[in-house]
Amino acid sequence: MLPNVHVLFSAGKDAGAPRYNWQPDSLGEQMGRVVVGMIGLGTVGTGVVRLLEQQRHLTLKKVAVKELQKERAVRPTCPVTTDVSEVIDDPEIEILIEVMGGEQPALDYIKRAIDKRKHIVTANKEVLAKHGPELFQLAKQKGVAIFFEASVAGGVPLISTISKGLEANKFSCVTGILNGTTNFILSKMEEDKESYAAALEKAQSLGFAESDPTNDVDGYDVAYKLSILSALSYQRFAKPGEIYREGIRNISALDMAQAQEFGYRIKLVGSTRRAEAGKIDVRVHPMLVPLNHPLASVSGSNNGILVSGDAVGEIVMVGPGAGQMPTASAIVGDTINLASALQLPDFASYFQPEIEPEWATTADPGDWSCPYYLRFAVHDTPGVIGRIGTIFGAHQISIQSIFQRGVEESGARIVIFTHEVKNSQMESALAELKQCDFLRELESQIRIFQSAGRNG
Ligand SMILES: NC(=O)c1ccc[n+]([C@@H]2O[C@H](COP(=O)([O-])OP(=O)(O)OC[C@H]3O[C@@H](n4cnc5c(N)ncnc54)[C@H](OP(=O)(O)O)[C@@H]3O)[C@@H](O)[C@H]2O)c1
Repeated sequence: MLPNVHVLFSAGKDAGAPRYNWQPDSLGEQMGRVVVGMIGLGTVGTGVVRLLEQQRHLTLKKVAVKELQKERAVRPTCPVTTDVSEVIDDPEIEILIEVMGGEQPALDYIKRAIDKRKHIVTANKEVLAKHGPELFQLAKQKGVAIFFEASVAGGVPLISTISKGLEANKFSCVTGILNGTTNFILSKMEEDKESYAAALEKAQSLGFAESDPTNDVDGYDVAYKLSILSALSYQRFAKPGEIYREGIRNISALDMAQAQEFGYRIKLVGSTRRAEAGKIDVRVHPMLVPLNHPLASVSGSNNGILVSGDAVGEIVMVGPGAGQMPTASAIVGDTINLASALQLPDFASYFQPEIEPEWATTADPGDWSCPYYLRFAVHDTPGVIGRIGTIFGAHQISIQSIFQRGVEESGARIVIFTHEVKNSQMESALAELKQCDFLRELESQIRIFQSAGRNG
């Protein structure tokens, strides 16, 4: 398969850059075999080996793994070693594919490879999110490129779309469903009317969730991806520790049922948005997405991302956000593009998105605003609705609608939809409500998705 030749010519940023009359038909003769090394031969690495075998212009010379004796789903034709130095220090290897994952020792391996002037293709969102500024600076100094299409949204070509296809835009917001595991769990909860625990168990038995699901269900995975998307959209990585994060563990079957009743679907939404004074608002938390919004119909383990640019408007991309072959597709696509770009002198500067070495400054979560869905369990005493209204009014919270549900002997449930309200005002109103003797429990507090340009 030929590389995406048009990508090579799309930048046009540098008037002094050399021009090439490169005919795709003659690509085969112009391009020698590029030698590639890989660290990791797990889920993604296995898919990469399968796809690389079909590439005429790429030679996989060596693969490093942790355990040599392990049973493998694929047998590479090249040597497999447990000594990563054999890959990193091999002068013939020009591109290192890193698909081992995790922060360390992956970070050290990538830095050593960059130091040896190898180009990097990686799927490792954690290492990029935590060390992106340092790694991109190092790559710039050494004149090499880091390609990372597989690190966000797996098989969906989101990174290249933002950094190349939409390069002419100033972005205001990138938002969406960036984790297939949680989307699968939430979809199952809705379809099968199951509890979170039952849906998680199903996801684990089908291989959609790991035995320790923390990274996915508590939003860490999405936070790493948002850090990377911030770097692409606003030129600075967001520090993962500064990203507001709320997962899906507290979503109940009743939340799902009520969302449906009122015309919404609950999704774990991650977003990075341009805020005031050069800050960015980066966060991941569950949201009620209106059923008629394209993100509401992203089901199962798929990802769906909405990119908002000043020239293009809004674009939605939907597809497999993980999995062996979709992720390998992104890795090998990057490798093909890199290999073909190696023909150009000083190509790294064309390909690297402009990323500044400083971290982004994140906006104070208290300043965000959005509408809310709230559900309270209350004692069924007269005047409760009036007292809630009074407290909300005192905190400048305007109620859009209020419903009483499930009146029983022991109490009742009050469901409230608010208009847009500042986080800090909502928190102070809820703190006051929690002191009231009529309140048994604040059962649910979920933000409501608006259009991307606002609070998506
Ligand atoms: N799985 C997905 O659907 C998916 C999607 C998008 C992105 N990613 C990213 O892709 C990367 C790889 O994920 P994966 O699911 O393929 O992981 P995986 O199945 O756990 O495979 C990891 C591989 O790395 C090797 N490895 C681990 N530590 C090593 C070390 N110290 N030295 C050498 N090799 C080492 C392991 O060797 P052994 O085989 O010998 O244990 C294994 O082959 C991660 O960054 C992940 O976030 C994955």
